[in-house]
Amino acid sequence: MRILYIGDIVGRAGRDLVCRQIPHLRQDLGVDFVIVNGENAAHGFGITEKICQALFAAGADVIVTGNHVWDQREIIDFIDSEPRLLRPLNYPAGTPGRGVDVYELPDRRRVAVAQVQGRLFMHAIEDPFRALGAVVDECRLGAQAHAIFVDFHAEATSEKMALGHFLDGRVSAVVGSHTHVPTADAQILPGGTGYLTDVGMCGDYDSVIGMEKRTATARLTQVLPTDRLEPAHGEATLCAVLVETDDASGLAVGIEPLRLGGRLSQTPARHLA
Ligand code: FE2
Repeated sequence: MRILYIGDIVGRAGRDLVCRQIPHLRQDLGVDFVIVNGENAAHGFGITEKICQALFAAGADVIVTGNHVWDQREIIDFIDSEPRLLRPLNYPAGTPGRGVDVYELPDRRRVAVAQVQGRLFMHAIEDPFRALGAVVDECRLGAQAHAIFVDFHAEATSEKMALGHFLDGRVSAVVGSHTHVPTADAQILPGGTGYLTDVGMCGDYDSVIGMEKRTATARLTQVLPTDRLEPAHGEATLCAVLVETDDASGLAVGIEPLRLGGRLSQTPARHLA
């Protein structure tokens, strides 16, 4: 199974590029299942129902979020009605929405998607390791699901690598999001789990993690009030990762980063096309 995970969409620049590219990527790379991170899609802060519908219409199968999930309050009422929209699994019991679900492809193969949020340099929430441990105890690769994809929305590289090893051999892939900076450590871990510390964002890289650079820099160089942070509107780079899994074992047989358009060096994943 080929799963494409498209990193954090920042504002209109990222949104437009992702909606335009998903149909091409699906076709050119033979993608079976598309996951996108939409937590910064609404002008940098959160996501709306309308944006969800646009991403689904473009060909996204599941939208994951992260610490900005509730920035647009309307999503709190919407999330329970949309099983294809996930928030981090390790939020307190009773939080609206869900952090994991199993989705069926048209050919009846099943893929589980889970998202957890980190605790280092982030809000103190429940243990992401324990939360995912319970999920993989119940949902086994090759039995309940042909593939299990985990998004770890976290700040610290160390926490992300530790989760990769914690789940190695029990899930198809662990891919990080949230920092908006792609890392160069795509690999298959010894137990067969595809791993990448951070997929990067879909946005303008002439910025500070997607936000307009003058305001973002002023916040760090002066003690005066600054303007509101706004997304940068230059040409976006689409950052994603393509994971190929073996349907029998559920483990990864390939993992390739993809960077398309904009300022970053390009990685077209040619040999997987
Ligand atoms: Fe985030």
